[in-house]
Amino acid sequence: MFTILTGAQFGDEGKGKIIDVLSSDYDTVVRFQGGNNAGHTVIVGDDTYKLHLIPSGVLTGARLLIGPGVVVDPGVLTSEIKMLEDTGIKITPEKLGIDAKTSIIMPYHIEMDKLREQKREKKIGTTARGIGFAYIDKISRDEVRLADLADKNAFSAIMDELAPQRERAIVDLGGDPGVVRAGIPDYAGYGAMLKPYITDVSYELNRALDSGRSVLAEGAQGAHLDIIHGTQKYVTSSSTTAGGACVYLGIGPTRVDQVIGVVKAYITRVGEGPLPTEQAGEIGDRLRDAGGEFGTTTGRPRRCGWFDAPLARKAVYLNAYTSIALTKLDVLTGLDPIRVCTGYELDNEHIDYPPELSSDLERCTPVYKEVDGWEQDISVERVFSDLPDAAQDYVHQIEETLKVDIKIVSNGPKRNQIIVR
Ligand code: GDP
Ligand code: IMO
Ligand code: MG
Repeated sequence: MFTILTGAQFGDEGKGKIIDVLSSDYDTVVRFQGGNNAGHTVIVGDDTYKLHLIPSGVLTGARLLIGPGVVVDPGVLTSEIKMLEDTGIKITPEKLGIDAKTSIIMPYHIEMDKLREQKREKKIGTTARGIGFAYIDKISRDEVRLADLADKNAFSAIMDELAPQRERAIVDLGGDPGVVRAGIPDYAGYGAMLKPYITDVSYELNRALDSGRSVLAEGAQGAHLDIIHGTQKYVTSSSTTAGGACVYLGIGPTRVDQVIGVVKAYITRVGEGPLPTEQAGEIGDRLRDAGGEFGTTTGRPRRCGWFDAPLARKAVYLNAYTSIALTKLDVLTGLDPIRVCTGYELDNEHIDYPPELSSDLERCTPVYKEVDGWEQDISVERVFSDLPDAAQDYVHQIEETLKVDIKIVSNGPKRNQIIVR
């Protein structure tokens, strides 16, 4: 069984929580793209885990893998392994495997990300983790792979060639070139630390599927942050949609059994870019407070707005979801009426699908439908039919709009706050 799970909006839909819940049914959980721009939260009992690179199945018995399409900051990864070990979760090479071809985020990538963002006339609002520049080097075939980092001589030869070029690039961007060489000794150390975890992820996964084992691919970011199909240029630098999992992991598309979309009951976005239903005033503040909408990675306040059906329809097209997990329904409690954006007005026309270009999406005026809210605390319910009628109706309406079954409703941040239909 091969299942792919992706975010259907702009990230932070609650993928970490849903992966944690589903993972107990899977033998392997694998990250396929992105890097430590991701922040996936898993809360079990009184313990909160904020994961940036380690797959969110870490609290179950699953084997964890980081695929070759991920860009890894080895300092962040080793700190995360240590953080987990401090809480009693041992991350041995039997537990975690990292592909030999995984691209390494170097200190110069981070520096270039920051410098470039400062200079951009139209800011993207990146997480400043070096993601874009690490992917540039992968595409231009000037990457440092984990296998290179773990081989002292190979790493040193690559640095001899690349360091002068990266120093010049940093000077061009107005930065201090010292950062290029300053990081090299630490990085050689990370190579030695991570060497035991090296594996061939595509081979491991295909073998696991051959022998009847189950694999869950954990997406990072969300559909509208996709490098090609997202709201360019306000996107991340990887393919965040389900097809990306096949490409990045080296698994053929005919092996996919399920594609699960994680959809927040409203919408949020961190960083710049269009968000037609954004609520700047009281409603936005209320969603942000009730939903704890502050970035897991950067701590930035998330922009909040009403559920946007056109964007969700596009996410369904981009991913071909077989089912949806609807999260954070509890956050809407007390808002009455609730508004749902059913379409947009653009140039005096009504449309129910987003225009392709961000410059047009920015000009769209949302058309809303008002639906009844509910007052009672729904975070304690575990059975769908025990939810107030208005909450059930809300779920049904989204289901009808998207024409995909909502099989999971999440009604609180904790593992047990979940309704499986
Ligand atoms: P991810 O990046 O998609 O994994 O999402 P994040 O972890 O960055 O952000 C989701 C936030 O919402 C986290 O703080 C979660 O603990 C929290 N969360 C997840 N599901 C629910 C839910 O159903 N209700 C509430 N209130 N919080 C949730
Ligand atoms: P998870 O996996 C929300 C956003 C950044 C910025 C844009 C580009 O937790 O859902 P980047 O650093 O990737 O070059 O930034 O993408 N972004 C995210 N927003 N959740 C994420 O990950 C994100 N990862 C990147 O805020 O707008
Ligand atoms: Mg997140």
